[in-house]
Amino acid sequence: MSNTKELKVSAIKNGTVIDHISADHLFKVISILGLDKIQNQITFGTNLESHKFAQKAIVKVADKFFEDDEINKISLVAPYAKLNIIKDYEVVEKKSVTIPDEVVGIVKCVNPKCITNHEAITTRFSLVDKKEVALKCHYCEKITTEEHLEIL
Ligand code: CTP
Ligand code: ZN
Repeated sequence: MSNTKELKVSAIKNGTVIDHISADHLFKVISILGLDKIQNQITFGTNLESHKFAQKAIVKVADKFFEDDEINKISLVAPYAKLNIIKDYEVVEKKSVTIPDEVVGIVKCVNPKCITNHEAITTRFSLVDKKEVALKCHYCEKITTEEHLEIL
């Protein structure tokens, strides 16, 4: 870690730093990962300066190392997120997120007539395009795109 840069959010000893989240999606990331329900120490910063986004957010979760399946869920709202795995204050690994082929739960189907919007059925989608968020509903076959993405 360079000493010339000032950390806007304190460094953590062990855990996961999720960087490059667009500020307007920060709270969706927190809810998708269930960070509002765990006991780990969590720090975050938002509306920080960034080259990539107008404003970026960062989340640091102490003593938590996510499974790929778990962390990839945030790709729906934070496709450019960068994960930094921290062990004993050092960044030991950097990872990107990938959009999963199957999305179960999390997202609401765009089709108002879809059965998942009327009955207690968990939504289920398959990814139709690797490069963008375009999710085909398993029940009604309608496609939910990023601009209509609503997180449950
Ligand atoms: N970090 C942290 N605690 C540590 C080490 C790093 O919270 N003990 C955070 C840094 O604040 C940074 C991220 O983890 O947000 C990645 O750290 P590092 O690779 O050192 O920073 P950069 O080189 O700026 O990473 P990038 O180029 O990916 O933005
Ligand atoms: Zn549907």
